[in-house]
Amino acid sequence: MKIATQRSNSSAKTMSTQSSKTSKPPSRYSVGMFSAGEARCDRWQELAHAAQTLVAQASSGSSTKETLAAVETLLAPLSVIETFRAYPGEVMMSGLKDALSRSDYSTFSRITNRIAKAIITGSYRRSVNAWKLGEEGETEGNDRLLKDYFDTGDLTKPYFEVLIVSDDPTTEQVRQGRGELRQLRRPEDPFVYEAVTVPSFEEGVIGVVMNADVQAVVIKDNFRFKSQFDAPLLRTYLEQHLSLEPGSLEPKDYGVALARAIGKIRPELDIYLIVDGAAEKVASHLESKNIRRIFYGLEDLMEIHLALLEGVNQRYDTPYFNNLKNYARRPVGTFHALPVARGKSIFNSHWIRDFGHFYGANIFLAESSATTGGLDSLLEPTGNIRLAQEKAARAFGCRELFFGTNGTSTSNKIAVQALVRPGDIVLVDRNCHKSHHYGLVLSGGQPLYVEAYPLTEYSMYGAVPLRTIKKALLDLKAEGKLDRVRMLLLTNCTFDGHVYNVQRFMEEVLAIKPDIVFLWDEAWYAYSRFSQFHRMRSAMGACEALRERYASAAYRAEYAEFKKKHGKLDPKGAKLLDTHLLPDPDAVKLRVYATTSTHKSLSCFRQGSYIMVNDDCWESTQGPFKEAFFTHTSTSPNLQLIASLDVARRQAELEGYELVGRAIELSLILRREVNKHPLISKYFTIATNAQMVPAEHRASGFEDFHADGVSWKTIYDAWASDEFVLDPTRVTLLCGSAGFDGTSFKGMLATKFDIQLNKTSRNSILLQTNINNTRSDVAYLIKVLADISRELDRTLSKDPGEKAAFDARVKSLITDVPDLPNFSRFHDAFRSNPRSKTNEGDMRTPFFLAYDEDNCTHVKLNSKEIDDLVRRGQAVSANFVIPYPPGFPIMVPGQVITAETIEFMRKLDVKEIHGYHAATGLKVLKPQKLGASRRKTASHSRSRVTQKKRTRKG
Ligand SMILES: Cc1ncc(COP(=O)(O)O)c(C=O)c1O
Repeated sequence: MKIATQRSNSSAKTMSTQSSKTSKPPSRYSVGMFSAGEARCDRWQELAHAAQTLVAQASSGSSTKETLAAVETLLAPLSVIETFRAYPGEVMMSGLKDALSRSDYSTFSRITNRIAKAIITGSYRRSVNAWKLGEEGETEGNDRLLKDYFDTGDLTKPYFEVLIVSDDPTTEQVRQGRGELRQLRRPEDPFVYEAVTVPSFEEGVIGVVMNADVQAVVIKDNFRFKSQFDAPLLRTYLEQHLSLEPGSLEPKDYGVALARAIGKIRPELDIYLIVDGAAEKVASHLESKNIRRIFYGLEDLMEIHLALLEGVNQRYDTPYFNNLKNYARRPVGTFHALPVARGKSIFNSHWIRDFGHFYGANIFLAESSATTGGLDSLLEPTGNIRLAQEKAARAFGCRELFFGTNGTSTSNKIAVQALVRPGDIVLVDRNCHKSHHYGLVLSGGQPLYVEAYPLTEYSMYGAVPLRTIKKALLDLKAEGKLDRVRMLLLTNCTFDGHVYNVQRFMEEVLAIKPDIVFLWDEAWYAYSRFSQFHRMRSAMGACEALRERYASAAYRAEYAEFKKKHGKLDPKGAKLLDTHLLPDPDAVKLRVYATTSTHKSLSCFRQGSYIMVNDDCWESTQGPFKEAFFTHTSTSPNLQLIASLDVARRQAELEGYELVGRAIELSLILRREVNKHPLISKYFTIATNAQMVPAEHRASGFEDFHADGVSWKTIYDAWASDEFVLDPTRVTLLCGSAGFDGTSFKGMLATKFDIQLNKTSRNSILLQTNINNTRSDVAYLIKVLADISRELDRTLSKDPGEKAAFDARVKSLITDVPDLPNFSRFHDAFRSNPRSKTNEGDMRTPFFLAYDEDNCTHVKLNSKEIDDLVRRGQAVSANFVIPYPPGFPIMVPGQVITAETIEFMRKLDVKEIHGYHAATGLKVLKPQKLGASRRKTASHSRSRVTQKKRTRKG
């Protein structure tokens, strides 16, 4: 988040290069909009270069005027930025400015260089040299203060910063306070920290936004609201999104209000309140969950020190990983299965020792098939796995969290089986991952496929509009089937980066069906908790917000108004689709589940997955959930995987904010460089928000991160309101204009340039910036694209024949794209009531019918036979047919195959189609078998009805 600020009383103009004044400004994006750290590094680097130039100019007698002006321009915003950081701190900053004012450019350059290097490499976290103002060996300024800073000799202790919010302390008081905290350091402390003090509410907020090193905030009583900097964007943000206006709060409430505001931005931070009045009284009516402790004055400085360390230690602690490390250290004799445990079968082998050397000893020493000895059991956790899961639940903002060790593919099946009973209706995006479709086959749930909007020109789907979902639910209500509706299952965000307005979707759906279960497949979204933007559009973030909303008096009043206006919802009322529906707060049951592939975006081994639960009915669901977990989880789960799920949580809580911010920032740099590059953009472009989200789903009108006039606030407002937004970290690079189809371009990048990616479409590839990416990765990719573009330019300008062929290829890739076929319908044989208006169907019966080859036949794709069957409505798929790409099932068992589907398949130029072999043809159910199964389906649904009647009577 970048919040434009101005020092109102100094020459420092802005903290960013964006100005908030111009009426029609150009794109206000600059590095740092999402990650202040990146902008800070860039600026220090530039300042170090300018300082060197200054030294050279001064020593050669050239004019330094222009360089000095540049130095001033760079230094002014840095002086502001650095007030929120403990490093380099006031002493070094004064030393730097002092040298500049004395025209001692070589000292200025030396200090600048030292700071720049320390910030870029992070060496200030571990090396005392980074903090030294003078030359090696000198002891002046900071050096004296640092006397015992790293004296323990232990430079490997993790470092963090503590933000202290305290009313206008003098520089001397700040220095003294810092010194007092340093005095408390002990060799046995697990971490080392430095304090940074700010004087106001607003600077408290800016501090946690700008300084990713902050892990804890100490709020002292009595401070002012307004910052010394003019921060227009921050002020609007506080007013609009946190309902905080300077006049609306009394100074005595600032502390708690600040804790809450910080909790909305970085919920993982520990907050401590120091009050001058009656601490016990304040403690008894604290309104903020994230305040860990409350202290009376500064009388307990050592207690505060210990609390700060303990708070961070709670997040640092990884109970399962710690225990596994301990286990690996112990001499253990194993008489169980798993010979690789302890590595003896490997390191004593004559033939497979290289296997051991490649992986190292620890992976074998940390292996066991036992669940004793403190290793706990994933299937029935009572010890450190349970603790690790509880910590993860807290970190990811849910009530329960379960570790999955077979990918989200399995987590999805667990969730579906746990929640869906045979015959239940599940509204599901047909474009969702195949694990859900298979989950529905296993559970016997009846899918009612809802369609995502197509992005035909890129051969991909977007997300499912709210109207479509409401319409399906209202139709079900009109048909009297609402009691059979169990679940809404959607992918958030999609592989290609479409992110739902989760809160709004859940709210309106709950207004129609107040006890529906939401399963959000967030396989691609494990990091969402650690970005304020993404969190508000995540399952757990939205659930938390709705829980708070429905408990408030304000919502009750809003609902009463709504009810007065709309009365009882008439499912046939046409206006309902255009009305923001509100649920009855007394009837609502919030039942929200999310599955995430931890391994896809956090530091976790492959297949690590979290199942997150926030369910008002958990009491009655945990039994079936356990059964489903037992059904799908191996009795030999991989210990390293469990450990990495534990460690991924630690990193996310302590570094997630910084790393996710950087991943977003990198994607924006990549977007800007490609789309604004005169040569690259001739052939390659990155799809913008507007290209991925049609205008009717973008009420804010937000088009692109780099469009004119866009600021942090524009983006935030769009994310707060639009039906869908594009996650910038999902970078769809359109390569059709360069004459490449997605698959061959992906192959070329991998083989020629060692660039790997995982998804393609007919004319695009999908790149993803992640927490592991660096500026160098982005620079390399841009260089490769520039090289390819240059080469294309050269070839095409030389040879007109080549140019004509190229144009034809481009046209075929970007114009002649096949229409994406919608889901047709289930064959009447697999519908409880073929006359029903709603389109749910039984997929399980045809799936198992196909187990008997006698029930099926194979028909060639390019045959008259299939056309005839299609024309008669007798072509019914016996299985799933899933082409990669695009990766969604174009046929499911029991689905009537239409001419559109056949046409799409005939045009499809991909080789990998699961469920279809060109040599044998499409597997369809024999028409004569459909009548029999119709009778079976009817009797099945009759028996469900009878059963229901019996249950009701009972
Ligand atoms: C939306 C979605 N859900 C689930 C999965 C499966 O996740 P995993 O690879 O962790 O099994 C994927 C895999 O790509 C996916 O795209």
